[in-house]
Amino acid sequence: NGLRQPIIAIDGPAGAGKSTVARQVANQLGLVYLDTGAMYRAITWLVLEKGISIDDECAIAELVNDCRIELTPSQNIQFPVQVWINDHNVTQVIRTVEVTSQVSAIAAQSAVRKALVQQQQNWGQKGGLVAEGRDIGTHVFPDAEVKIFLTASVAERARRRHQDFSTQGQAEVSLEQLEQDIAARDYKDSTRTISPLRKAADALEVETDGLTPSQVAARIVSHYQDRLAQR
Ligand code: DC
Repeated sequence: NGLRQPIIAIDGPAGAGKSTVARQVANQLGLVYLDTGAMYRAITWLVLEKGISIDDECAIAELVNDCRIELTPSQNIQFPVQVWINDHNVTQVIRTVEVTSQVSAIAAQSAVRKALVQQQQNWGQKGGLVAEGRDIGTHVFPDAEVKIFLTASVAERARRRHQDFSTQGQAEVSLEQLEQDIAARDYKDSTRTISPLRKAADALEVETDGLTPSQVAARIVSHYQDRLAQR
């Protein structure tokens, strides 16, 4: 793949700060930012919107195989990537508590993963991406030039989500509730049978407690430059 532009894979649990960091790294290096979680969220929104039961794997498989997901850049600072599914703009609705609480169940279904991974790999054919998710370094782009595994304690991740909710003006959710939700989602994402969340053997683990997103991004950019210098 000598002609391909580099790919940076960033994986880790919910609330580790992947989105902010991945976006900053992409901006600094002139690469395209790919939020794969948004794709699982978009499918989940469509399933709920159509009133399909989340256990109805056949109906969901059919839905995912003929839906169109698009991610487009925008000038909106709070939502710099606009998310579309079948021409519905779902940028904001995919962040609600309803979608968030159901997405792990949908993301565990093999037909869903197959279709979305295929699309991610198509987008990544020429490289030049900072892709963020759970299975990017292990499964979607196993030959990515740089792999990062971002972590943070459950308490720190709950605190960050709490802050996000306040700035978005969403209904107050207690820190305790958020800690429980995060722990539950971690468990589901890392124990599912297909492509569970885990650190790739060749990923650099970055523990982000007490670091700002800019500090984490700087560490990744410098790791990226070291890696490219070695090639
Ligand atoms: O990163 P996020 O919170 O937006 O991800 C939403 C859900 O999608 C998360 O619970 C796990 C799932 N997901 C996944 O299974 N694989 C990915 N590559 C990205 C997200």
